[in-house]
Amino acid sequence: MELPRTLAEFDERAAAILEEGPYAYYAGGSCDELTLRDNVESWRRLALRPRVLVDVSRRDPATTVLGRERPHPVFVAPTAYQRLAHPDGEPATARAAAATGSLFCLSSLATATAAEVAATAPEGARWLQLYVFRDRAVSEQLARDAAAHGYEALVVTVDLPVLGVRERDVRTRFEIADALSVPSVGAMGHQGPLSMLGIGELIDPSLTWADLERFAQLSDLPVLVKGVLRPEDARRAVEHGAAGVIVSNHGGRQLDTVLSGADALPAVVDEVGGEIDVLVDGGIRRGSDVVKALALGARAVLVGRPVVWGLAVGGEAGVRAVLETLLAELDVALALVGVPRAAELDRSLVAPAPWAGRVPSAE
Ligand SMILES: Cc1cc2nc3c(=O)[nH]c(=O)nc-3n(C[C@H](O)[C@H](O)[C@H](O)COP(=O)(O)O)c2cc1C
Repeated sequence: MELPRTLAEFDERAAAILEEGPYAYYAGGSCDELTLRDNVESWRRLALRPRVLVDVSRRDPATTVLGRERPHPVFVAPTAYQRLAHPDGEPATARAAAATGSLFCLSSLATATAAEVAATAPEGARWLQLYVFRDRAVSEQLARDAAAHGYEALVVTVDLPVLGVRERDVRTRFEIADALSVPSVGAMGHQGPLSMLGIGELIDPSLTWADLERFAQLSDLPVLVKGVLRPEDARRAVEHGAAGVIVSNHGGRQLDTVLSGADALPAVVDEVGGEIDVLVDGGIRRGSDVVKALALGARAVLVGRPVVWGLAVGGEAGVRAVLETLLAELDVALALVGVPRAAELDRSLVAPAPWAGRVPSAE
């Protein structure tokens, strides 16, 4: 089978393969899906200002995150229920990530355990994403499992105190057929089918900064706060001991019309970039998007839906192809922007696109 050549084509192919409910769940955003679309478009509103006559015969996409050098800045975002996309699920994604040197972030609503993922891709760098469930004991156990199985950090998602208004899921009456196939949900004692709203209700809406600090103390792992859009919140993350923040709007699935990652990133970097690592996600679909994110000060990007499309289309090989496509595009973009080392990208390379009305300011 020939695999698609662009991330957009992976999306089209996945739409043809997956059933309506799961495809709508993966692809959809909240309400009018304005933020969902803006996530992709806001990278395109930025134009690049390449340097010329620079020796680009050797390129290096390496980056440093949480004090460790990574071969490149393209990480796999946590996305729930991957066995709905393909029976091989998270273990296949983790193997593909390991094969391409991409850090893999496992969702706490995964259809595989942290131990299974560690066993199938022992050499791969991995983080665990945590929702703080009302049943705190389950989240605490997940954090301990992560520490015991070589996960290098906890990613605490803070933009889902309640579930966003996901109208596509209502229309398709989407539900997870067997709650027990999600080990964390099974651990909470749920059986049988579970709707998206039901899943949302498992999460503790009373979580505050003080809880975050307590969670950070559960294991020795560094904590990243995922879902920050305001510099003031990034500052609070620093004050409460976070090692990093992920500028993210949850792929446009929570509050509609919030800022995109691209638009929120510069102010967060200006506030805390000198102290902790700032990462970004949402709408990364091209290697040039990765260049723009790094130029604006991100240490790495996370990629959500395209990885799921790769999984749906070709299992492990599909995910690998998605990541390799992005990395090949990144390599070309580094050469053509005239900055062969990704670590040396800076804001002077990015400007408001003349075709766009609204962009973050470039210096
Ligand atoms: C189907 C799906 C499931 C997701 N599940 C989770 C999750 O379990 N935990 C989490 O922190 N974020 C989750 N996210 C958000 C992603 O981690 C990420 O922020 C977002 O997908 C990035 O945008 P992109 O899909 O445009 O790349 C999910 C996103 C999608 C599309």
